[in-house]
Amino acid sequence: MKRSKLLLANLEAFYKFIGTSNIGNRRHQCNIIQARLFSRSLAAQEKLSLDRDTVYNRYEEVKQFARSDPESFWAQMAREKLKWRKDFTRVNECNLSKGEVSWFSDGQLNVSENCLDRHPREDIALIWEKDEPNQHEQVAYGELLDMTCQIAQTLLSLGVKPKDRVVIYLPTSPIAVATMLACARIGAMHCVVFAGFSASALAQRINDSGAKVVVTADKSPRGGKMIELQKIVTEALNQTATVEKVLLWQRTESKTLSGNLVDLMKESDRMPKYMEPEAFSAEDPLFMLYTSGSTGKPKGLVHTNGGYLTYTSWTHEVIFNCSKGDIYACVADVGWITGHSYLVYGPLANGVTSVLFESTPVYPDPGRYWEMVERLKINQFYAAPTAIRSLLKKGDSYPNKYDLKSLRVLGSVGEPINTEAWHWYNEVIGRSRCKIVDTWWQTETGGILISPQPSTPGSEVIPTMAMRPLPGIEPALIDPVTKEVIPKGRAADGDLCVTKPWPSMARTIWQDHERFKDTYITKEHGFYLTGDEAHQTEEGYFRITGRMDDVINISGHRLGTSEVEDAINLHPQVSESAVVGSPHAIKGEGIHAFVILKDGCEETESQLITEINSFIKKDIASFAQPEAFYFVPVLPKTRSGKIMRRILKKLSVGITDDLGDVSTLAEPSAVENIVKLIEKRK
Ligand code: PRX
Repeated sequence: MKRSKLLLANLEAFYKFIGTSNIGNRRHQCNIIQARLFSRSLAAQEKLSLDRDTVYNRYEEVKQFARSDPESFWAQMAREKLKWRKDFTRVNECNLSKGEVSWFSDGQLNVSENCLDRHPREDIALIWEKDEPNQHEQVAYGELLDMTCQIAQTLLSLGVKPKDRVVIYLPTSPIAVATMLACARIGAMHCVVFAGFSASALAQRINDSGAKVVVTADKSPRGGKMIELQKIVTEALNQTATVEKVLLWQRTESKTLSGNLVDLMKESDRMPKYMEPEAFSAEDPLFMLYTSGSTGKPKGLVHTNGGYLTYTSWTHEVIFNCSKGDIYACVADVGWITGHSYLVYGPLANGVTSVLFESTPVYPDPGRYWEMVERLKINQFYAAPTAIRSLLKKGDSYPNKYDLKSLRVLGSVGEPINTEAWHWYNEVIGRSRCKIVDTWWQTETGGILISPQPSTPGSEVIPTMAMRPLPGIEPALIDPVTKEVIPKGRAADGDLCVTKPWPSMARTIWQDHERFKDTYITKEHGFYLTGDEAHQTEEGYFRITGRMDDVINISGHRLGTSEVEDAINLHPQVSESAVVGSPHAIKGEGIHAFVILKDGCEETESQLITEINSFIKKDIASFAQPEAFYFVPVLPKTRSGKIMRRILKKLSVGITDDLGDVSTLAEPSAVENIVKLIEKRK
């Protein structure tokens, strides 16, 4: 107001100076200008909050705010969502084209403080839905804080320092969550390895990360069976050299431990229940998590404190319409990025109750999820399409037995959701009154980038479409041939990129920044390249259609073709192999393996398949076993020796007559042989 009065006086002086004689007109003009200045200063003073209600009710304004002033938008989000020990002055120091990403870098915070200390001690943080039904356990925020502080001090007592790597090989459980947060409390990086991975896969991740400590359990029940975690860790440690101590959660029986084994419960029980959270830089690493790419070994994506927690907590709130008091269930395993961002960090930063699901969707029967929803009164449920598809095949009688009226939001993640599964989820589970949110994102993106929600209440949701980029997220499609950016507003297919950085982007691949740049930054435009193909509509909605590279997505688990081929090639009778992803009714994609045997192999096909499968189980995990094997004399390759997977993909679904351009095939007989094999099987 003061400023506008001053301006008004200046204007009057100006009119006097230029000698305008019409005083009335002058006064009128001054009044109009004053009103405009006033309304502008009001707009500038009014801060558009980024809380859930504002985001829903003023969605277009929030989107506009993010687009017109991204620095202020992200800075405000970081300050609204998190408690900073030291406020930041620098917001975005990214140079995406050089693969440099940095957010809030001079700010300091402690992630575990944000996820625990801020919330009332008595509020329920976790409900652990154990493998056996009807045996859930509740953990209050205060208890989780105590556990976290005690484990943090145990890690310190073992010599773990900031930025050291701690491998966590545990089932989805409060102990796993407390261990992750304990690492965050002391600035160590956790590296959770999905407890379904084999000893070799675990060893490879330990070696690459150079982990000092492994935290595991003796055994872990899953679907009524016991998984021998400790045995797997012992086997893995034979192939590694960096691990000094193994912290063991003796879950099933208590023994006296020796060697490098330390009893997790005994040691942590001796520690004080509280430990001051130390402030770390927003750009210090929080964790690394391995994921598969199209080539080479799995890569350790590194995420940092400030940007990651800002974005996961905000998106968790506005996508799942989630606030304190809600019971939110993400049924992913803690070993995947979904478990990190939307089971642990997002929900706990928001102070909600997060359900940890340790079992399988079909144990003891296909009603398990829905019985749990009724018993725990779950409000938001987040799962993978593969589980939805497998349950819909069992019919409606299971969900129909249970009262599902507590549900408000049903999320889907990890792979495209097909029309049938989408409608079943909406109608049979959501009873046509829940929001269905098909969320698209990746290990690399840290958080959800495209989702139907948030949006203006009542706005349209098209089945099977991930729909709208979140405010602040700027996707673009690139034409795969011309490499040009496809204009917005044109319905088209292309390679999905993101043109501007956002706070929860992975910062690098552990110890391989060149690979990070080569893999994720487009040479032509300096955009983030997702590796996914997508369709955009005229309205700006997105549907993710599949991968543009050789990554296979089995039940939402990412695998590189080369990883599976390497495992198959371990069999002494195998000379060469090629695998492709092929559509699968439940898993989304299944693996089809084309294998060349060495001369003189005398084993039968069924013998070979069993043996190769056991190599795959040993080298990767059981979910990586192929659906189909084809033993062939030659593989279809180009003259430069590149396997023509495009042809193998078609052959895997029985297409033998429309194989596209085969003119570059080095040996046409390669295809003819496979065609004969397929015809014989029909
Ligand atoms: O291909 C996309 C697919 O899963 C990939 C990311 O896998 P991951 O890093 O393991 O993270 C999975 C959980 C976020 C993506 O590149 N994907 C993920 N969500 C969707 C999807 N495909 C289609 N629709 C989705 N909603």
